[in-house]
Amino acid sequence: MNSLDRIKIEGFKSIKEMDLELRPLNILIGANGSGKSNFLSLLKMVNRMIEENLRIFVAQAGGADMLLYYGSKNTERMKIRLQFGKSYYETAFLPTTTELLAFQDETVHLHNENINRRPYDKNLGSGHEETLLNKSVKSGKHIYNIMKGWKAYHFHDTSFSAKIKKTAYINNNRGLQDDGSNLAPYLYLLRERYGEYYENIIKTIHLVAPFFEDFVLEPEEYNPETIRLQWKERKSDKIFNADSFSDGTLRFICLTILLLQPDKFLPQTVIIDEPELGLHPYAIKLLAGIIRSISPIRQFIISTQSTIFIDEFSPEDIIHEFETMLFVTPEKISGLFPEQKAEISKDIQNVRKNFNNSPETINDNVETSPSHRIADIIKKHTQRKYEKIIHGTKALIDEDMTKIRRECPHFNQWIGKLENLQPHSK
Ligand SMILES: Nc1ncnc2c1ncn2[C@@H]1O[C@H](COP(=O)(O)OP(=O)(O)OP(=O)(O)O)[C@@H](O)[C@H]1O
Ligand SMILES: [Mg+2]
Repeated sequence: MNSLDRIKIEGFKSIKEMDLELRPLNILIGANGSGKSNFLSLLKMVNRMIEENLRIFVAQAGGADMLLYYGSKNTERMKIRLQFGKSYYETAFLPTTTELLAFQDETVHLHNENINRRPYDKNLGSGHEETLLNKSVKSGKHIYNIMKGWKAYHFHDTSFSAKIKKTAYINNNRGLQDDGSNLAPYLYLLRERYGEYYENIIKTIHLVAPFFEDFVLEPEEYNPETIRLQWKERKSDKIFNADSFSDGTLRFICLTILLLQPDKFLPQTVIIDEPELGLHPYAIKLLAGIIRSISPIRQFIISTQSTIFIDEFSPEDIIHEFETMLFVTPEKISGLFPEQKAEISKDIQNVRKNFNNSPETINDNVETSPSHRIADIIKKHTQRKYEKIIHGTKALIDEDMTKIRRECPHFNQWIGKLENLQPHSK
């Protein structure tokens, strides 16, 4: 599987700097405004970049200034490094006078014994506004093909004017589009050519929407090159259009089609922002179960706010902030700086108090995550940089977990799950 193993970002939206190792299944959780959607939006930007539609992406986002961390006045350039196995793609963007992004640098590093005996670096130059990957030598094309295999889906728009509900060209069926806008032609293709998959999709929709019978998918009578989403209820012959679906049902349908389509059409890496939006708890559990069952063959990067969704996964799939736990025992982290212990401890206590002594709720905007706060407090009193590996682990290495578990109910839940994986003693 050509999965995305590691991603480094600098200067994108609310992300000043980030270095994240990814696993086959990644569930991002965090407070509102903590940057989950921004991270997924960066992956979407990479999608558009690969399609050579970066200019359109930037323009639709409102220009380069909106994409750079606190605008171009604060951030000179944006950097991205995407790693798959030992190979990586690296780029830096600068804003242009026309408010777009230009490549300051675009580099591929190919390290794949099946293609080149030795690692191979290629600089694709600078000044261009669309990627040169697909036009480059073999090594660039190889990386281009891997990066084409990621797709970020967003089925949030189910409003009256949503593309999902509009008529679409019948031959617009080469894979489900990321906003579901070709749902009708894609379903038509599945029904005509991949009947088994289509049946499975219908059966799954029945579990959540028992009133639904089937889609009515026929080319439009007066314009047979086009098709639109229609459906029938059980116990009635009346034909409804997509507008009559509830928002949650329509989103569930999109997600079911995405996940249960023939695997040859399913991207290598599937990225979904808040799949739970508007869904009934039962539907959320069902979706989580489907994702879990396909995760051995595909990589998933998913952001969520739903505890029902999170509960369906193992603790190691969840990406959460370690520093939350440092707020449970302020004396431990402050004890690492004996001369400023009292001041550091007092500041940490104050943060705790402002959040009702509930460390897992600490965060009210992108700059105030637990790790930012700890780093700021340490800097303020010691002029030293907070080092996660040294300070963080030292502070908690011999910590009694009972207190942490009591004050961090989410964390406690995950640990409970891990414990339940142990064989029961007789
Ligand atoms: N160019 C930018 N520079 C700095 N901050 C930005 C920029 N663009 C957006 N933001 C900030 O990003 C935050 C939104 O982040 P994001 O949408 O990723 O949150 P989220 O974690 O998905 O939250 P939710 O759970 O509510 O969906 C906003 O607070 C906004 O101020
Ligand atoms: Mg979000």
